[in-house]
Order: sequence, then C-alpha cells, then structure tokens
Amino acid sequence: SFYNTAIAKPTEIFANRQNSAGLNLHIACQREPFIGAVRSHYAKTYDGASIVDGKTVAVQAPLAVNSPYNLQQAVGTVSFADDALLNTAIASAKQSWQKWSKRPTSERAAVLDRIADLFETNQHELIALCTREAGKTLQDGIDEVREAVDFCRYYANEALKNWPAPTVLPGPTGETNELHMTGRGVFFCVSPWNFPLAIFTGQVVAALVTGNAVLAKPAEPTNLIAYRAVQLMHEAGVPTNVLHLICGKGSVIGQQAMEDVRVDGVCFTGSTATARRINQTLANREGPIVPLIAETGGQNAMIVDSTSLPEQVVKDVIESAFTSAGQRCSALRVLYLQEEIADRTLALLQGAMAELRLGNPEHYQTDVGSVIENRAQVGLQAHLDEMGKTHTLRYQTPLSDDCPTDSYFIQPTVIEIDGIAALEKEQFGPILHVIRFKRQRLEDVIAEINSTGYGLTFGIHSRNETFYEAVARKIDAGNIYINRNQIGAIVGVNPFGGHGLSGTGPKAGGPHYLMRFINEKTISNNI
Ligand code: NAD
Ligand code: ALA
Repeated sequence: SFYNTAIAKPTEIFANRQNSAGLNLHIACQREPFIGAVRSHYAKTYDGASIVDGKTVAVQAPLAVNSPYNLQQAVGTVSFADDALLNTAIASAKQSWQKWSKRPTSERAAVLDRIADLFETNQHELIALCTREAGKTLQDGIDEVREAVDFCRYYANEALKNWPAPTVLPGPTGETNELHMTGRGVFFCVSPWNFPLAIFTGQVVAALVTGNAVLAKPAEPTNLIAYRAVQLMHEAGVPTNVLHLICGKGSVIGQQAMEDVRVDGVCFTGSTATARRINQTLANREGPIVPLIAETGGQNAMIVDSTSLPEQVVKDVIESAFTSAGQRCSALRVLYLQEEIADRTLALLQGAMAELRLGNPEHYQTDVGSVIENRAQVGLQAHLDEMGKTHTLRYQTPLSDDCPTDSYFIQPTVIEIDGIAALEKEQFGPILHVIRFKRQRLEDVIAEINSTGYGLTFGIHSRNETFYEAVARKIDAGNIYINRNQIGAIVGVNPFGGHGLSGTGPKAGGPHYLMRFINEKTISNNI
C-alpha cells in the first residue's frame, strides 16, 4: 500500500533528511533475501531486564515471554525492576542530565542519526522480534523499524534546525537578549505494546535530543524489543547514565515513578484511562508542576457518501480496520455508509474479507495476525458475543490452517449497528462497526461522531469536494484522511495525534513536538 513506500519530497524542511525507504514484500527479489535474513533470528532467545547505568540488572524472578500467536514458542524471559533499582536509575539520570543538555545540539543529533543507522543495520533482528514478541506481521515489522528510524532522523533534523545556537533577540541600546534552550531534566517515557519499537523510540529520542535524561518504561508484553533497542541506543553513543530502561508493571513501577518528584516530565502513549490516572498522580504530588504529553485512544469513524469509488473504499476500509489486527489507535472502528450504497459496499467488503489471510505472522502472505494477549482476546470476544445478541453480524474472516491453537487470534469481523452510542469504549482489535445513514441526516452523523469526545483519526470517501471539505471542517479530529486509508501516519508528512479524550498533543512526527520537552531561558544582559 502507498503508505509503505512513500518518501518525503526533499523540500526545504527536509533538506537534510529522507524517510527510510522500507521494503515491498510483493517484489520477490526484495522479499526472498529479506525473509531468509529475518528467519535466521527466529531461534534466538533473550533474557531481558532493566538496563541501569548500562548494566542489565535482573532483580526479580524471570517471567517467560512467548509469542502471542503461538504460546508454545519461547521468545525469552524478562525480569521486572524493584523500588531500589528504580531509585538508582532516577538518581543516576538526575545527576547526568545537565551535562548531556550542555552538549551542543549537533552532538546529540549525531547520536540520533547513529541510532537510525544501527536500527537499519540490525533491522532483520528487530523485525523478527516485533513478530515474535508482539505478533506483528512481517510488513508491520518493516514499517515499525522504518518509523523508528524516521523518528530519529526527523527529530535530529528538527533539533538542529531550531536550536543550532541560542536565538538572539532585539532590545534597547546596551542590552543583549538571548533565548536559550535546555532540557527539562528527567523524562519518564511510557509506551504501549502496539508500536513497541516505533513509539518507544520516538518518545525516547525526542527527549534525548532536547537534552533530557530518560527513564523508558515499555509495556508489559513487549519488554524484549525495548531491551534490544536500548542496547543499540547505548551502542550508538547515548551515555549509559542518561538513558535507563525500566521493565515492570505500569500500575506498580510506572505508578511509583510518576509519584517521584525527581521526574521532571512525562511522555505517555496508551489508553485514555491510564492517561487520566497519570494526570491525577502528577497533579497530586509535591514538587514541580510537570508537563504530561499524552497520546491515547480513539473511536475513529469514516463517512462514505454515494459519490465515492467503491473499490477504493473497500481497500482503504480493509487496511484501516484490520491492519495490525486493528490494534492501532488510528484504526477505523465505525464506518458510516450512505444508505444508497450500503448493500453494495458491504457485499464488496465481504468479498475482500474472504481474501484476507488471518494466520501465523511469520508467513509473509499473512495479512492479519493474532491480538496481543489473553485479556485482549477475551475482551474482544465478549464484545462480539454481546453485540451478536442485538446487532447483525455481517461477516467474519476465517482462520487459516496455520494458526496454532494455543494462541490469541480474533477473527476480523463486520457488525452492523444502529448508532455509535452502542459502543461504550474503544474496542482495540479487528472489529468494524457499520452504520447506514441518510444523506439528509449528515449533520446528525457529524454531531454523533463528535459526541464521543475522542478526536484522533477520521476518514472521508467522497468525490464531492463541497461535501468532503464541509465534513472535514466540522469533524473534531487530529488527523483527517480524505479518499485514502486512515492509518500509517508518516513521520514529517502526517504529524500524528489527537485531542479531547485522544490526547494532549503535540503531534508526534511534527514540527512542534520537541518544544514540549524543553525549558526556555531568556538571558537579558544590560552590559
Ligand atoms: P495502557 O494504557 O494499558 O498501557 C500503556 C503504558 O502505560 C504501558 O507501558 C503500561 O505499563 C503503562 N501504565 C499502566 N498503568 C500505569 C500507571 N498507573 N502509571 C504509569 N504507567 C502505567 O495501554 P496499552 O494497552 O499498552 O496500549 C493500547 C492503548 O494505547 C490503546 O488505547 C491505543 O489507542 C493507545 N495508543 C495511542 C496512540 C496514539 O498515538 N494516540 C498510539 C498507540 C496506542
Ligand atoms: N501513527 C500510527 C498510525 O498512524 C498510530 O497508524
């Protein structure tokens, strides 16, 4: 699909940077050596743990890590941190951030460029890990590494462009005025499992390039990917006392870090419920007032009118709803079809879903893999069972023969419902809800979508310019996609993030992101 191959135009902004090229698995001569190289990493196992001051420290009994699509398959083990280790990491970060912040921006940016290079050099191992630990398809794994690399190069370039030196400002005769940028101190970066390398890396490198020390806490299901990423970041030149990895439960070690007044900033991506909890913790603690960057969930809709191109609609709906097994915050959850085209579109959708391959993500033909864990599988199945009682289940993609039984698969499903109010919360999986609408009720549909309070992604399919421009203006969402899919934001091309229940901004991969990680200091000198 086009979001896998797009390359940013070298405009003025991107003068020193190009997006990573990625790889097209449909081209045999690219695919065969790639698959061989990825496969050579399948048998490796990892004993991961927190990394503090450059040392892997296993303080608690190791827990087994298995592949979500095959629970009989070991990926390795992980040991969680305890209070004492967290304390050591925060103390080390607190002591070292100023020295790091005083280094020239160019030096920190060069480290990010080296991380990007090392990720590319080690991409086969990282892709294999994304598949084995997070259940990502090979194409998703490719995109994951590509986005992580893009974040490094983009933020390095942004930092260099904006803060090559202090900004000299005007003033009265005899007075000099300068605006200096420094890090804020210690940033606690908390990431989700669904982009275990890309979002993990984006948060960490943004905080690093702006002169902060970082404690990075990955999500419970994907510690090993983060473990390997931090090893590579240290190898690239991030000082070991400036970047620490803390593995553990969010509600335990994460919560404890939030309460620590030595933490000067928090960058969080995950659910809306967790963001609220973190916000409350930060508000109630003593010490400095700390900024929270929160990127959270969505109840993302798409409106399709009768002028749209049916084949394009179906392709984009399939990609938006079912790529990554629907485990993207950007994924399409509620499809509004104008009633005149609803039956035809549903019939085409059913045909396309029959072509989807739901199976073992180690096979390159697999389109949709498993969901991440038992809790997710049980919750999604319960939603399907409940919806099935009162709504019309239209179609489900069957499981392929290669799906191991001991696994967390959920069948991609289309259900017809009568209004968005039937959905209480984000369903983070391959479930698409469809609603028919009458053209004269468009304003009600827009109001209904806005009433969810989320505002992350939104899609429109229409060839009527007046229609799509009006809808785009009225829908309150951070990323609006017209006549294309609504996932796969590209760094520097589609700055990504929402508002309302979907987050605080700023947009990841956009020109304003780094500002939230810095302190500004004005020095006025009446010589
Ligand atoms: P989650 O909220 O359960 O966990 C996210 C992270 O927060 C994990 O690392 C977890 O360990 C940690 N955590 C949990 N409780 C904590 C606490 N009290 N203090 C500190 N840390 C704590 O979310 P998830 O299940 O990992 O991810 C899926 C969610 O993330 C979905 O809602 C999805 O929409 C959202 N998401 C949003 C974006 C975005 O850019 N807007 C991107 C990806 C995912
Ligand atoms: N940035 C990711 C996407 O756009 C979440 O799908």
